[in-house]
Amino acid sequence: MADKLKLAIFISGRGSNMGALITACAHPDFPAEIVLVLSNTPDAPGLDKAQKAGLATEIVNHRDYPKDKPAFEAKILERLAAYPIDLICLAGFMRILSADFIARWPEKIINIHPSLLPKFKGLDTHQRALDAGESEHGCTVHYVVPEMDAGPIILQRAVPILPDDNADSLAARVLEQEHIAYPEAVRLLSEKLL
Ligand code: GRF
Repeated sequence: MADKLKLAIFISGRGSNMGALITACAHPDFPAEIVLVLSNTPDAPGLDKAQKAGLATEIVNHRDYPKDKPAFEAKILERLAAYPIDLICLAGFMRILSADFIARWPEKIINIHPSLLPKFKGLDTHQRALDAGESEHGCTVHYVVPEMDAGPIILQRAVPILPDDNADSLAARVLEQEHIAYPEAVRLLSEKLL
């Protein structure tokens, strides 16, 4: 069997997209494996899930580096060095990585965002899509570049916005698609990177 793409997943919270990647990677034919889950918040619920799945975890708490992003990122790089990583998957990672950090991993950091980029960069995407009167919404997997939510798009999945949707119902419908999109994107990139 050919080598698998080695993933580091960065999380900050519940880790449901990480969970979707764990499920995908459990399939023998899936071309990737998770070598590390890193969180910037020590109490991220996703860390528990990762540990229960038997994955290596690292915590680099950004609060230990107040106003010192270079030191925070240097510590992340130090931890990453211990693992054989081909691709970093941001999955609800709520820190913005610097241009210097991103330059160390050219086209090797991807993110999932809950909107059809370039629409609705940033936070609160579901309510903003509703307020804008959109007829569809969705999610995007994209390369990470220094400008937030602006990197080249790898793939998108769309859902209709229904007349009685609120932000929660729409978020749930988009999240289902996120859990399909992220493994799909990793599979696509494996064809390029392996
Ligand atoms: C997802 O909606 C993702 O698109 C966004 O943050 C959320 C993370 O959710 N970047 P989870 O932690 O993967 O459940």
